[in-house]
This record gives sequence, C-alpha cells and structure tokens, in this order.
Amino acid sequence: MENTQHTNTVESSFAMPRIGDKAPEFKAVTTQGEINFPSDYDGKWVILFSHPADFTPVCTSEFMTFAHLEEKFNKANCELVGLSVDGLYSHIAWLRTIKDKISYKGMKDIEVKFPLIEDITMEVAKKYGMIQPGEHKTQAVRAVFFIDPQGIVRSIIYYPLSLGRNFDEIYRALIAMQTSDKFNVATPADWEPGDDVIISPAGSCGVAEERMTGTEDLDCKDWFFCTKKLDKDTVLNEVLKS
Ligand code: BEZ
Repeated sequence: MENTQHTNTVESSFAMPRIGDKAPEFKAVTTQGEINFPSDYDGKWVILFSHPADFTPVCTSEFMTFAHLEEKFNKANCELVGLSVDGLYSHIAWLRTIKDKISYKGMKDIEVKFPLIEDITMEVAKKYGMIQPGEHKTQAVRAVFFIDPQGIVRSIIYYPLSLGRNFDEIYRALIAMQTSDKFNVATPADWEPGDDVIISPAGSCGVAEERMTGTEDLDCKDWFFCTKKLDKDTVLNEVLKS
C-alpha cells in the first residue's frame, strides 16, 4: 500500500510524455535565442536531450560529440536541442570553455551551435520527466526524446547520470525510424542501413496479399518472420534527401 501511494505521488508531480504523445509545448530562452517548442521545428525531426549540469566531465564529452556530429544529424533532417537546469550565463561560459580548452578523442576547438535551453525553474525538465528524484532531486537525468516532423514523441531513451550516451546508437535509431516511416517496414536487432528489413507481421492485408501472390521479394522463415532486402543507397538517398 505504501509503495503504491509513493508511486502515485511521483507520477502526478513528475508526469512524462510517452511514445505516441504530442510533445509538450514550451517557450524557452536558449544560447541561440528564444524557441517555441515544438512548433519552431515543424517539418523536422528534433532530438531534445537533457544533461545533469554544466561544467561536468561526462556532459562535456557528450556535448563535444553531439556538436561534432551535428551536421550529420542535420543532413537527416534532424535538429538538436539540449537542456539542463543551469542558467544562460553558465551555459555560455561552459560552451566557451569547451571551445577554448577541452580536447576529447581527437576533437578540439568544438563550437556548440545548437540551442542549449536554460531551465533554472525546471519547468521544461519536469514537463518532460527529466527530473527523476530516485536518481537526483535537482539535476536532469540524461534523457533523449526523438520528436518527429509532426511533433509526436517517437522514442525516448534514458541514461543515469554516470553513463555517457552512445551517439552512434542515437543516429542509428533516428535513421531506423525514418526508414520505417518511408518504407513501411520494421528494423530488426542491431539493424544498420543495408541490412534486411522486417515486413510487418501478418494482419496487414497488403502484406498478406504480397505473401500469397509473391509480388514482393520476401524471405519468409515462417508466417511471422519475413524479411526483404533494402539496399543502403536506397535507404540513405530517401532518408537524407528529406
Ligand atoms: C558528469 O557529467 O560528469 C556528471 C554529472 C552529474 C553526475 C555525475 C557525472
């Protein structure tokens, strides 16, 4: 009984969006000026990610990596937006220090050009369930929200404070979701562009018909496990042109 009550209290104070929800709206001040979220990003994918604090080492390594990869994400029609519960002047000083002084894994002189939201009031962090009191009461966990061009939350990944994110995985997830949307397929474990894709399980008339008439080059191991080829150039040409 006690546990249930505790869970309910946490849920009502720290609600979080779920996959398939409309991304909660907010206005915020950032290192690149004011933003209206998510409407400023209509027609684009956006990755909204939080970090615990400025001037901390894991966060520094993450910001350098994301800034280094920003162009690659932009080419996939995706913008980056960071957030922590620090103030604007702290953000600016931290990003300047990163550019002037920090090198990491061969990256140096790194300029962070994407917006970093100031959220001293924790308004946005709370709206997005980025404050998870069991981990830390006032710092945001490392959350990654993938929001699609229609403003819908499509995937969420959380990491604890001590664990730096894997940016190859974040990029892979973005391209995989875009591929699913464009080609009406699913992507299997560890999928990378060029690997076979999964045809949605039976239940969709289109798929049943294709199976029966053999109009598509499917490789079916059983009725529920069908793959087809989708070459890397086809995927990348389609995804990177959008
Ligand atoms: C870091 O980014 O280094 C960090 C931040 C908060 C807690 C632990 C590590």
